[in-house]
Amino acid sequence: MPAIREPALDVRGLVKRYGDHTAVRGIDLQAHHGAVTALLGPNGAGKTTTVECCVGLRSPDDGSVRLLGRAAAETGADDRARVGVMLQDGGLPNQARPLELLRHLARLYAAPADVEELAARLGIDQFAATAVRRLSGGQRQRVALAAALVGRPELVFLDEPSAGLDPQARHTVWDVVRDLCTDGVAVLLTTHDMEEATRLASEVVIVDDGRVVAQGTPAHLTSSYGTSSIRFTAAPSLDLEELRRSLPTHLSIGETRPGEYVIAGDVDPAVVATVTAWCASQGLMPDQLAVGRASLEDVFLDLTGRALR
Ligand SMILES: Nc1ncnc2c1ncn2[C@@H]1O[C@H](COP(=O)(O)OP(=O)(O)OP(=O)(O)O)[C@@H](O)[C@H]1O
Ligand SMILES: [Mg+2]
Repeated sequence: MPAIREPALDVRGLVKRYGDHTAVRGIDLQAHHGAVTALLGPNGAGKTTTVECCVGLRSPDDGSVRLLGRAAAETGADDRARVGVMLQDGGLPNQARPLELLRHLARLYAAPADVEELAARLGIDQFAATAVRRLSGGQRQRVALAAALVGRPELVFLDEPSAGLDPQARHTVWDVVRDLCTDGVAVLLTTHDMEEATRLASEVVIVDDGRVVAQGTPAHLTSSYGTSSIRFTAAPSLDLEELRRSLPTHLSIGETRPGEYVIAGDVDPAVVATVTAWCASQGLMPDQLAVGRASLEDVFLDLTGRALR
């Protein structure tokens, strides 16, 4: 019988304070080889702090972090070489030129990736000799991703890897992440992109205000949350009070983006009739009216609220 492999990352009861503000309040989290774990949460929820504690950039106030089977405090340079990190603010040296930087980093590892191939895959060859400070935000992101992968890590932390990327680069990043999984790499990915999490992650951890508020596969989260939703677009800022009063209280009703409305929960034919009758009473034509399963975004907004913090 094959041995059961330990999680590549095992975080228990992680607590991190900044002065008297507790940014992380007891987070448990695992990442497994050959899988993507997506860490989702509103701005300020504690995702980057969690990643920074995991990779040793910050020391936790409480809890434990195990990386590749070893307590974080006991890891040496050899263990750290097996971990790749892409930080949210990039952290790249401004004067460096991408290809030189990647070649330099590659020399630090015993069995690095093929730098030219990696650069070509992420489109870095097009700006290989331009100083980092002159690169666009998305170009820098791609260099930071390449830098995280050049040592062929077994565990990789990607803090919003596709933020600010154009659609082509975003799809390339998704392909790269999928290939990492196929190669058995464990990926912990933070993102605000629900499509990214739905497409890539086998496990999703939603944090809010430093705590885990939900955890599971995307399918588990969406099905346990409610079977379905109604979406439509119309004029922004509609008054939803009357609609709210005429629908069962277990449904969540909201405007997810200006002019985009979602009624989520257990939507049955009577609910559809109520919503369309309300639209008619308002003289509203609901555009792109769709009834479907609740999405990860519906779950996220329902758990973490719709208002800005
Ligand atoms: N160096 C710091 N000193 C003091 N407070 C900090 C520091 N870094 C983060 N914080 C605070 O800790 C909380 C968590 O921040 P963190 O960067 O971990 O959030 P996040 O989930 O990564 O957010 P985002 O989605 O915006 O990247 C926030 O309230 C933030 O203001
Ligand atoms: Mg962050």
